[in-house]
Amino acid sequence: MKVRKAVIIAAGWGTRFLPMTRTQPKEMLPLVDKPLIQYAVEEAINSGIEQIIMVTAIAKRAIEDYFEPSFELENFLQKKGQTRLLKKMRELSNMADITYIRQKEQLGLGHAVLTARGLVGNEPFAVILPDDIIDARKPALKQLIEVFEPRQGSILAVERVAPADLNKYGIIKAGRISGGVARVLGLVEKPEPAQAPSDLGVVGRYILTPAIFDAIAQTPPGRNEEIQLTDAIALLLADESVYAHLFKGIRYDTGFPLGLLKANVSMALKNPDMRTELREYLKTVLKNETI
Ligand code: G1P
Repeated sequence: MKVRKAVIIAAGWGTRFLPMTRTQPKEMLPLVDKPLIQYAVEEAINSGIEQIIMVTAIAKRAIEDYFEPSFELENFLQKKGQTRLLKKMRELSNMADITYIRQKEQLGLGHAVLTARGLVGNEPFAVILPDDIIDARKPALKQLIEVFEPRQGSILAVERVAPADLNKYGIIKAGRISGGVARVLGLVEKPEPAQAPSDLGVVGRYILTPAIFDAIAQTPPGRNEEIQLTDAIALLLADESVYAHLFKGIRYDTGFPLGLLKANVSMALKNPDMRTELREYLKTVLKNETI
């Protein structure tokens, strides 16, 4: 079966970004010239996804408004003759077919995915965690879909993580890696380094078979008393093959202030409109700092 739907999880409180997230969703924070959520939506579309299911929560209305047309703004831009900007705004609101569903209680990532069950139905689907921004020539999700197609089993995006960071990720136990793909033999959510089965951490891109929903429904609360997607995937292993893919690309963790700042600097240095001036600016800042 084809992967047609992507579930984007935008339901977290964003506590690491307080006070900024008191009145705005963390997914609306800027990365260079767009809010974070737009990168997730664009990656889904550029990977061939036809329908996006956004799991949101209370105080996330700004995300819904962002992808809606604003006729007042369009009128205004038209009157001012700002045709390029007008075109950009129209493209934004026509970008994707997005359905929103709210996670009423924040009981964990597994629970958030389960919220989308009715909208996903009985077909394989993608999950995107918008905190993980992946800069890649071929969209990371597309890479996963290509690994999925011949196998028709769940696929997890993984990358090697430093020992000190093992307790920040779902860590897999992997079989032999061939062509960047390995069978997943086990997985643990945020293990202490000594207990980690490898250095392969799951990043926020998944292709899941619909069997995951029953697995989540049977998953008791785990780490942090939350229903963990990692634990549900571990249950799924009893019935289905699950694969990991070492995707090609650079991942930025924008889920905390310094990570977002680093991503902004790196991505802006790749932006032709900003690159030259930013480089000069950074050089000056660094020079002045060492004086
Ligand atoms: C979640 C998952 C974790 C995964 C990570 C990727 O954790 O629970 O398994 O490795 O996303 O970013 P979170 O970052 O939401 O704590």
